Amino acid sequence: MKRLWEHIGQTNSASAAYLVAGAVWFFVGASYGLTTAIHLVSPELFNNIPWLVFGRTRPIHVNTVIYGFVVSAGVGAALHYVPALLKTRLWSERLGWLSWLFWQAAVVSGPICFSLGITQGREYAEYTFPFDCCVMATLLLLLVNLVMTVANRTEKSLYVSVWYILGMALWTAGVYPIGNVMWNPPSGALPGLLDSVFLWFYGHNLVGLLLTPAALASAYYVIPRICKTPLYSHTLSLVGFWALAAIYTHIGGHHILQAPIPNWLKTLSVVDSMAMIVPVLTVLVNLWLTARGRFGMLWNDIAGRWVLVGTLWYLVTCIQGPIQSLPSVQKITHFSNWTIGHAHIAVLGFSGFIALGAMWHVLPAVAGREIWSRRLLHIQFGLMMFGLAGFFAVLTTAGLIQGHAWYNGETEYRVLPEIAPYMALRAMLGLFIIAGALLGLINVILTFTRGPRLAPPVEIVRPAPTGQGVAL
Ligand code: HEM
Ligand code: HEM
Repeated sequence: MKRLWEHIGQTNSASAAYLVAGAVWFFVGASYGLTTAIHLVSPELFNNIPWLVFGRTRPIHVNTVIYGFVVSAGVGAALHYVPALLKTRLWSERLGWLSWLFWQAAVVSGPICFSLGITQGREYAEYTFPFDCCVMATLLLLLVNLVMTVANRTEKSLYVSVWYILGMALWTAGVYPIGNVMWNPPSGALPGLLDSVFLWFYGHNLVGLLLTPAALASAYYVIPRICKTPLYSHTLSLVGFWALAAIYTHIGGHHILQAPIPNWLKTLSVVDSMAMIVPVLTVLVNLWLTARGRFGMLWNDIAGRWVLVGTLWYLVTCIQGPIQSLPSVQKITHFSNWTIGHAHIAVLGFSGFIALGAMWHVLPAVAGREIWSRRLLHIQFGLMMFGLAGFFAVLTTAGLIQGHAWYNGETEYRVLPEIAPYMALRAMLGLFIIAGALLGLINVILTFTRGPRLAPPVEIVRPAPTGQGVAL
């Protein structure tokens, strides 16, 4: 017991716990995606096996990949680089572990409770009340830990990655209880249409105020470090930060344009979906100008490659996003696989790729060991890139077929055979992503157990390059 207590007090141990969890949930979550995809290829296959039917595996898949994989990996990296940027130690590793425990309790409740049919049944808000409390406990514990780390810093300036991570914890702690209607524990819902307004205020901010800041914080950390150059503009980075807070927060209505919500809410959400160009471009221009002339360095570093490609997926996602916010476009695309294609390039391509890049970048310092196999990392990247690009192509095409067929009044039983080959292709392409997840998990475990030890021991608190007089 004493040894365990000592172990969880060691520098970087909480970061390591989150990173390992991220790698495990990536594999588990993606595998549930395959089960879900198989159901869409052959709906009879899982008949009479309630815990394997689409309605149960889909929310397990979605919640596990978002909360389990992307957030765990992103937070794991942040618990390493936030103290490093502030030239101090994490205020409390043990508090970090406690937050980890609550988070894992919530994530693990997905496969267990949803398999048994215990769910709030609201998309992205399926966790039941006790597990909503676990999510909130994690966010508040992280917030305390990060704020205290900031308070104890020896570096005067707050680099933008620290802003984003603090923003992520603070904003999500505010948005989560509202979207999950936590003041009404039995249902976690409101009556009528108002419920979808609350749900999508939250659902949208889940990607905008949780996944996006986590990914951008990591990109802002990794790119200048690998390129060994200062950030192009600190001012621009803060413009992007505040623009995200000002614009992203209230455009969730674009998810329910087909519903009879007030017109002003629809207009606001469509107009400001267009305005998203400001936070998106300021970030991308800043990151790419930082890497100008040094893209080769980013590409040749496998962690940097993940982050670089993640920024490209961000661009594609955020070109597609405003376009599909237009009612004239959405009347074709809304009830179709087009949206599923967008969701995968966004959550996996943008936030997932950057989370993986950040994970591989900090792992040697966190584990005190070299990555077990860099070759395996290249293979993992290739598999995932192929699987995801294939997903995007297949789902977008299937979506356009479905959307146009339904728009033209075609009956569903005639449309389904047309998209059947695409559903089969998606399931097959998923195998590439799952194989990538498995290789990644093996590599993480072997790095911790068998990776060549780094000598001399990694200096955890270290100076970093500076940009425009601001410490990085
Ligand atoms: C870690 C990687 C992955 C991430 C981050 C991810 C993310 C997501 C998200 C966010 C959704 C919800 C989409 C929406 O409602 O618009 C979703 C749905 C889905 N995903 Fe994934 N996914 C991943 C891997 C996979 C894999 C490997 C497969 C298949 C083998 C898969 C198959 C599915 C299916 C079938 C759905 C439900 C689609 C529907 O409702 O029609 N996913 N995924
Ligand atoms: C400029 C930025 C973006 C805009 C304007 C935008 C717009 C949209 C719209 C309009 C939809 C709903 C489509 C429909 O139901 O017909 C949607 C869905 C979605 N978006 Fe985005 N998006 C943006 C960026 C992102 C990012 C950065 C992420 C992830 C990190 C993301 C993740 C998702 C997911 C997961 C869904 C599926 C939600 C569902 O289950 O229905 N989006 N987006």
